[in-house]
Amino acid sequence: MPPALTPSTSTLSAEEIRDVNTRYHDVAAEDYDSKWGIEFGELGGDQVAAKVHKALGRPPGHYAQTLEIGAGTGYFTLNLLRAGLIGQATCSDISPGMLATLRANARGLGLEVRTARADAEQLPFPDASFDLVLGHAVLHHLPDLPRAFAEFERVLAPGGTLLFAGEPSRYGDRLAGVPKRAAVAVAPLWRWALGARRAPTTGHEHHDAALEGFVDVHAFTPAELFELADRVGLVDVRVTGEELLANWFGWTNRTLEATAESGDIPMIWRRYAHRGYLLLQQLDRRLLESRLPAAIFYNLLLTARKAPTP
Ligand SMILES: C[S@@+](CC[C@H](N)C(=O)[O-])C[C@H]1O[C@@H](n2cnc3c(N)ncnc32)[C@H](O)[C@@H]1O
Repeated sequence: MPPALTPSTSTLSAEEIRDVNTRYHDVAAEDYDSKWGIEFGELGGDQVAAKVHKALGRPPGHYAQTLEIGAGTGYFTLNLLRAGLIGQATCSDISPGMLATLRANARGLGLEVRTARADAEQLPFPDASFDLVLGHAVLHHLPDLPRAFAEFERVLAPGGTLLFAGEPSRYGDRLAGVPKRAAVAVAPLWRWALGARRAPTTGHEHHDAALEGFVDVHAFTPAELFELADRVGLVDVRVTGEELLANWFGWTNRTLEATAESGDIPMIWRRYAHRGYLLLQQLDRRLLESRLPAAIFYNLLLTARKAPTP
């Protein structure tokens, strides 16, 4: 059984979910990198390489032909290109706005990349075209996951690798609700301590930005992700989890910051939030990720292989 739709999206048709995702991400594209701290320097490169290493359970090799699904502004592919881990890269996304930002990022970095506007469930590529099909934080937006996985398997070359990271875990998501609620409760005190004004709550947002509550369609258990890959005949399927303490810390700070006028938040706070997050990420990586069940972490990672032809 594929994962069920979340309550907020269960009333939308698959076509409406794709449309909401396109419009929301088109509007989000311009500020996406600053909102999520995406960058293409040493830190971004290290973060992406570490996620790929963790997902595979070994250091990544070199992939000559890659396809990214829901590539957004290029966080994964552009960082992997810069690290020399991939050769000819194709980035696909349903949002033309995201792809425009991705092309601008690639130009700025002097990187060559092909882009294609495409729905993950209908990929405009011939069979067996890529030796790595990858994605970050995208599966949870797709209404028909079995159809999407059939497409991933089709475009993978025999022996090729499938890799997805940054997918929300169902229990990890519920656990993260605790620090989010706590942050909402202490936000007035936090703003007072920092001398920050309260952010205006209505009227200014772009209409399409209000669609944010409808773009996330699933949160997964490790078993559900495993089954999606297994069902289309992929082999060596592996699901792992990452980020627990880092995530609680990150969501607490993000929730607090969202309640204040952005310009009133002092730089010292931003530095503390950033450094604290990186520190706790290391703690999660070294101490918790190999010891605790994948299901309780906030993010899930999936890798699998298409069996080589005999
Ligand atoms: C959360 S963003 C992640 C972007 C990028 N991978 C990253 O990690 O920064 C999800 C991306 O998936 C794209 N997306 C949503 N639905 C899609 C679909 N049906 N087919 C392809 N891409 C889709 C969105 O436009 C958006 O760029």
